[in-house]
Amino acid sequence: MTTTYAVLSEGLEKRFGDVHALRGLDLAVAEGTVCGVLGRNGAGKTTAVRVLTTLTAPDGGSARIAGHDVVREAGAVRAAIGVTGQSASVDGELSGRQNLRLFARLLKYRGEVARTRADELLERFELTDAADRPARTYSGGMRRRLDLAASLLARPQVLFLDEPTTGLDPHSRNQIWAAVRELAGRGTTVLLTTQYLEEADQLADDIVLVDSGRAAHSGSPAELKARIGSYAEVVVAHASALGPAAAVLDQLTGTEPVLDHERRTVGAVTTDPSLTLPRIVRELDAAGAAAIDASLRPPTLDEVFLRLTGRGTPIKETAA
Ligand SMILES: Nc1ncnc2c1ncn2[C@@H]1O[C@H](COP(=O)(O)OP(=O)(O)OP(=O)(O)O)[C@@H](O)[C@H]1O
Ligand SMILES: [Mg+2]
Repeated sequence: MTTTYAVLSEGLEKRFGDVHALRGLDLAVAEGTVCGVLGRNGAGKTTAVRVLTTLTAPDGGSARIAGHDVVREAGAVRAAIGVTGQSASVDGELSGRQNLRLFARLLKYRGEVARTRADELLERFELTDAADRPARTYSGGMRRRLDLAASLLARPQVLFLDEPTTGLDPHSRNQIWAAVRELAGRGTTVLLTTQYLEEADQLADDIVLVDSGRAAHSGSPAELKARIGSYAEVVVAHASALGPAAAVLDQLTGTEPVLDHERRTVGAVTTDPSLTLPRIVRELDAAGAAAIDASLRPPTLDEVFLRLTGRGTPIKETAA
């Protein structure tokens, strides 16, 4: 069986004056899957979404969405997609209910059906109480939910979500996650951008790590986690214990520990799934470097970047 790609881009380039936002971005998202585009501020995520959704033309390379070229067949691309941007696309002067009914009518639902669908979605996203106030009075999370409700109405073939949960509380975030899962379950291909490793891990079949406008790494969440491992960190009571603690971590993880003298911490990345926190604590005790705190946790996004791109510091928003 050959894979059909709902999103396929090759060598996408985009410049804004001196800023080279996309530098040969390759993406391949199989139909019916969820792709998480993970990247820090300024990595090029929004620019990629804008190019793929025909909102801005690329300077080079090519992209096809549901088989249609984003430049030459922009109309066909638009008919196949839904977009929820980093800033909401609903009309602030209209109420939530009016917005959804308007979208429904634009989608050629009949009057009665449009009203029912709009009401169902308001209920589903817990917007019923606020349904008749202007959307401009909604909180950020409510707007985002309304935006996604509008996307669900359309049932697009390919849905683009640009940082759908940034700044949301856990409850709203869970609602968005559930909606994404439901859409994916119904066969919609979803490309979502995020700065959260956990979000990509929760939702995506495949993750593309974008760094400086390029795909720096791609694979399943399991592959990504296996490559980056976990981060072991211990806090010692006295600075004199830092050296022995570092030696223990070095030996247990096989990676070079990072010392922070001010915080009296030693940390190291480990890709050994059998390494446990009790074992680390025991070995530290045995070495006479008792820890006052110890943790084994998933790496932060910065640590992921450090590991997979060799650069841990945030990208400067300037051209290289
Ligand atoms: N219209 C524009 N004019 C000039 N520069 C731009 C424009 N849009 C984006 N850029 C620049 O292109 C680069 C990539 O920006 P982009 O918005 O795609 O990043 P992002 O990954 O979405 O970041 P964030 O996580 O902050 O949303 C940045 O350096 C940004 O300043
Ligand atoms: Mg962005």
